[in-house]
Amino acid sequence: MRTEICGQSPLLPASSMAMSSFAQQFGVELPLIQAPMAGATTPELVAAVSNAGGLGSLGVGYTEPQAILEQVARVRALTERPFALNLFVLPDDFVPDMAAVAHARARLDALMEREGLAVRTTLPTRWAPRFSEQFAALCEARPAVASFAFDLPTPAQMQELKRRDIRVIGTATTAAEARAWAERGADAVCVQGAEAGGHRGGFLHAGETPLIGLFALIPLAVAVCDGVPVIAAGGIMDGAGMFAAEVLGAAASQLGTAFLACPESSAAEAWKRDLATAEDHHVATIRSFSGRAARGLRNRYVEAMEGAADELPAYPVLNALTAPLRRAAAAAGRADLVSEWCGQAAARVRPQPAAELVARLMHEYRLARRALAH
Ligand SMILES: Cc1cc2nc3c(=O)[nH]c(=O)nc-3n(C[C@H](O)[C@H](O)[C@H](O)COP(=O)(O)O)c2cc1C
Repeated sequence: MRTEICGQSPLLPASSMAMSSFAQQFGVELPLIQAPMAGATTPELVAAVSNAGGLGSLGVGYTEPQAILEQVARVRALTERPFALNLFVLPDDFVPDMAAVAHARARLDALMEREGLAVRTTLPTRWAPRFSEQFAALCEARPAVASFAFDLPTPAQMQELKRRDIRVIGTATTAAEARAWAERGADAVCVQGAEAGGHRGGFLHAGETPLIGLFALIPLAVAVCDGVPVIAAGGIMDGAGMFAAEVLGAAASQLGTAFLACPESSAAEAWKRDLATAEDHHVATIRSFSGRAARGLRNRYVEAMEGAADELPAYPVLNALTAPLRRAAAAAGRADLVSEWCGQAAARVRPQPAAELVARLMHEYRLARRALAH
């Protein structure tokens, strides 16, 4: 259909319109978002991407409110451009099944003992920061863009964001979730294909972990989003991939793993090194670190916990239990016991400063677009 409408290079005019409207709407120059990556994005990374014309995103899902405000101040000291703050939408309080917690602790402690690490699990004072307090900090910080994963903010929270002129990007892993975000009033929906690194951001479909490939998911989401721009995420590592997403109907691309290896990212050196040598069949969906499905490298810990994932407490309880173990393992140089999240195409990382990576991605994107035009 588009072929008939647009003639010889059918997809370019339509998608470039989507692209420029995305850029206008979000106040950026490029159809490129550096993904929020809680635990790995730094103010330096975010500012470098935003200064280069993309949308840098600070992942603060694990961060307490005061520290969120401090990190935002550091971003603002480095850039005047728009950037995004990203939160996990969760209930404020969790009442876990303490028998399941005890079972998980016994299993984790036994594993640490077998591996010769002195660290043991403890009961944290809180399982996760309170979302309502993080949300209040986000409103106070007033970034140009707020992005969310794991659930929808309430209608009242959406109104609060609109009142403060904060644009909203929601994460969806299925067409139904994309529609839910569009109906809730999101300014754009980021569809997370099965290829995506890190936690699955979905919230419908209890008891399932939808893993829909990005090529299928983009057009499915575009069809139900009623004109709300769709952003593509998952396994995109170069400008040709960004352009492919655009051809399928995406208004912009969100890349996470590609930015993990930048010097500005706070991923551990061992993690950065392991990305480059990751074999595609060792990049898996893993539940045993946090209690929520996430894509990362299969390693010794993942294999040791195989078969136990369904008995373990759900996110964020398991995440809080394993956090001190992961920290101790990292400090002991045991990357094989640490969560190394990454997308399906991790081996294609190109370690370089973020501004250079943005320029390179956009160069490739323009070459791909020109190649299709001829
Ligand atoms: C290390 C890591 C941490 C992530 N943390 C977050 C997060 O805090 N919030 C979020 O919405 N998405 C998070 N994601 C998912 C990204 O938003 C995005 O969906 C993903 O990076 C896209 O796939 P790619 O890594 O192959 O580019 C994370 C991804 C990675 C790799």
